[in-house]
Amino acid sequence: MRIGIYGGTFDPIHKGHLAAAKTVIEMLALDRLLLIPAAIPPHKALQEKSAATEHRLAMTRLGAESMMKKEVEVSDIEMRRSGPSYTVDTLRELKEEYPDAELWLLMGTDMIESFLRWREPAEILRLAGICAFGRSAEDTEKSLALHGEKLKALVPEARLKILTLPNLVEVSSTMVREGLAAGEAEEYLVPAVYGYILRHGLYDTAADLKKLDMETLRCIAMSYLKARRIPHVLGTEETAVHLAEKYGADETAARQAALLHDCTKRLSMEEQLELCRHYGIELDELEKDALKLLHAKTGAAIAADVFGMSEEVVSAIRWHTTGKADMTVLEKVIYLADFTEPNRDFPGVEELRKACERDLDEALQMGFEMTVEEMKEWGNPVHEKTLEALAYLKGQKI
Ligand SMILES: [Fe+2]
Ligand SMILES: [Fe+2]
Repeated sequence: MRIGIYGGTFDPIHKGHLAAAKTVIEMLALDRLLLIPAAIPPHKALQEKSAATEHRLAMTRLGAESMMKKEVEVSDIEMRRSGPSYTVDTLRELKEEYPDAELWLLMGTDMIESFLRWREPAEILRLAGICAFGRSAEDTEKSLALHGEKLKALVPEARLKILTLPNLVEVSSTMVREGLAAGEAEEYLVPAVYGYILRHGLYDTAADLKKLDMETLRCIAMSYLKARRIPHVLGTEETAVHLAEKYGADETAARQAALLHDCTKRLSMEEQLELCRHYGIELDELEKDALKLLHAKTGAAIAADVFGMSEEVVSAIRWHTTGKADMTVLEKVIYLADFTEPNRDFPGVEELRKACERDLDEALQMGFEMTVEEMKEWGNPVHEKTLEALAYLKGQKI
């Protein structure tokens, strides 16, 4: 197995890092690439305005996920270690964990220039190959080759690869931090990372979360999601807008509710329960062990508390999983948009989509009936709100 090790402060992780990571995976034919945010980098003092450890780790995870590559993993190995964090210690630990792996330490050219001053450079060279990549067009192979000779002089068997990356994204974290403070730099970040920064007010950003424009809300919504769920949420937004227009719900409210409807979905049961305690959300027996049901309630609480959403929007999020009797148009729209957005694929989805085009209540009833059927098949209990919703719709017809 060939493992690439890409350490850095990732303060924050930006498109330059991600482009380098992607290219290096291909050029070195890596089986795995570990992104390792540094805790206290000894050779690069953290700037005063750097983000806290847990934020850098979370942003690195969001950036890594956005690559949608199975090889990429984020490791907190250096953050877990107490005291200063040295590359040589990380490599020793990784060598122990993966004794048969071929390790490659990745670095930018600015790093290789200071490499001989790192702790135990010779030991590093024995543990791992060095792969240096140019960050700017001026970094020619020729100038890098010079460093190569120095390394070989220290350890003759040193493995060295020098890559000049094509399609280089010319950006540094310093540029990004300064740009963010000035209200720029969004273009250097993937939306989820940009959203995360705004949500936590990092790097002197001071977005008013209760007065966000739709584009910014969309980035922030992405920062809550696992990357693979992003298309679902954007699909829900698209379908919700269509249904809102068709059936006379407010378009802005439909977008807001769709974007935030799954904002707590990636949280663990423990984190969900913590939110329930924090917001005083009462749970029935079924909800106590059904993660899928909890996220609608906690998501609604976040939408109200953090983003100051209207009760109309909050309520659409709250009922998007179970439904309830006597729903508003927006509640129905979000329930059905979540169920039928373009990425959904299950037996009957086409029928349900057609029903959405014919009649909102007909589609809603069909949706509830499908849910009841599915629960029965799996031997799961049906939430009482869903049964009430179904009974209400049927009663309405009589
Ligand atoms: Fe959901
Ligand atoms: Fe959803």
